[in-house]
Amino acid sequence: MQKKLVVLTGAGMSAESGIATFRDSGGLWDQYPVEQVATPEGFEADPELVLNFYNMRRRELLKAKPNEGHIGLVGLESHFDVTIITQNIDNLHEQAGSKKVLHLHGELMKARSTGDESLIYDIDPQQCDIRLGDLCGKGFQLRPHIVWFGEAVPMIQEAEEITRRADIFVIIGTSMNVYPAAGLLQDVRKNVPVYLIDPKDVFTSRYDIHHIQKKASEGVRELKKMLFRNSY
Ligand code: APR
Repeated sequence: MQKKLVVLTGAGMSAESGIATFRDSGGLWDQYPVEQVATPEGFEADPELVLNFYNMRRRELLKAKPNEGHIGLVGLESHFDVTIITQNIDNLHEQAGSKKVLHLHGELMKARSTGDESLIYDIDPQQCDIRLGDLCGKGFQLRPHIVWFGEAVPMIQEAEEITRRADIFVIIGTSMNVYPAAGLLQDVRKNVPVYLIDPKDVFTSRYDIHHIQKKASEGVRELKKMLFRNSY
């Protein structure tokens, strides 16, 4: 049976595809006040500003392509049972061809009803934007299908279960600042090897992490070598 390899990805995974990270200098939260564009209160105060912020993100995504890091993770599926838990709202893992992707923080290419959270719609890339006045089937305003700060993270339980079953755990391109996502590391069993791919130092609760201090594309290449060398 194939070993279960679980990968937790963050904004750094997509940085080489031209998508801005959040907390690096010049990152998105330097340019936009997070409480204005990524909280329910911000949406209530100025829905148009928030819709436009995500419309911009969506236009940026439509121009982006998966990078070698995303593609390298797909290659691991011939040797491992790979599940990706991503904090990213882009769909670059899916575009690359990864089979099992769980989105913790929602999906940019989906819209959701503000009156009935079970009503979720795919956004047609030709139309791209959500505008004020775009309504769900029940007549409520549509919003981005994104988990904002202060909102529940519905996929976290499934992510915890997947993490508890991991035989190998890999973290790529996340500052591990945002909970509950960062807390997943606590669910990794004690003897499970943990790899981290990030050009910068990342503070985590585990001291026995193999840090591959590289960007995602080069880092995934290095990871593959290490995994095969250790013949997992
Ligand atoms: N390859 C790998 N890692 C990179 C690269 C790269 N090319 N470029 C930057 N990084 C690393 C940075 O060093 C940093 O550790 O990616 C990390 C990005 O961290 P953040 O900007 O904090 O993004 P992330 O951890 O994904 O943020 C978590 O916060 O704002 C919310 O909901 C948003 O999902 C997001 C969550």
